[in-house]
Amino acid sequence: MHHAIITDMLGEQDADELAQYAHFILYSQRPHQLCVPARAPLRYCDGLRGIVLHREGQFQTQLFIVDPDKTIPEHLHPTVDSYEVYMYGMTFTNGDRQVVTEEDAVKPDEYGFPVHRYKIMRIRPTDWHGGTASKNGGAFMSIQHWLKGQPTSIGLDWDVEENGEDRGGYMGKGHEGEIDEINLKTGTTN
Ligand SMILES: [Fe+2]
Repeated sequence: MHHAIITDMLGEQDADELAQYAHFILYSQRPHQLCVPARAPLRYCDGLRGIVLHREGQFQTQLFIVDPDKTIPEHLHPTVDSYEVYMYGMTFTNGDRQVVTEEDAVKPDEYGFPVHRYKIMRIRPTDWHGGTASKNGGAFMSIQHWLKGQPTSIGLDWDVEENGEDRGGYMGKGHEGEIDEINLKTGTTN
């Protein structure tokens, strides 16, 4: 381990296991080390598509593409510690704070890249967070340390309160869970 220090958008600095893994994913400069696994690499849920770019032990990285104007409600991942990595078109919320403004979400810098590209936000298991995609849609990466069990999809480790009701599981518990069962039984990759 290199003892890299990761500084997030809110100025939080960390050098723990997840920070080392995030450093490997973001700065290793070796794209061939990113390797989509054959077991359940793709996720389709309401307005979101995800692909696993890397999975090793308790660590995993997913890339998500979000439909235009889609809002991801405030939620928790109770057993996953993670970094959210802004790529394009997302406003992130962290509790009451809006971390990227709507205008900045799609604004290019002088080189033609999104101004906030590769900025990251530490999302601990107790951190409520959410986001909204721009009218052009949005994309972000999630770099994860699974504290219990094997990595599947961050959308399966999901807690949200809506109208005082804990729904559990993204867009209802069954949906992604069923897909996962199918994947495990047949070995198909959808
Ligand atoms: Fe999340």
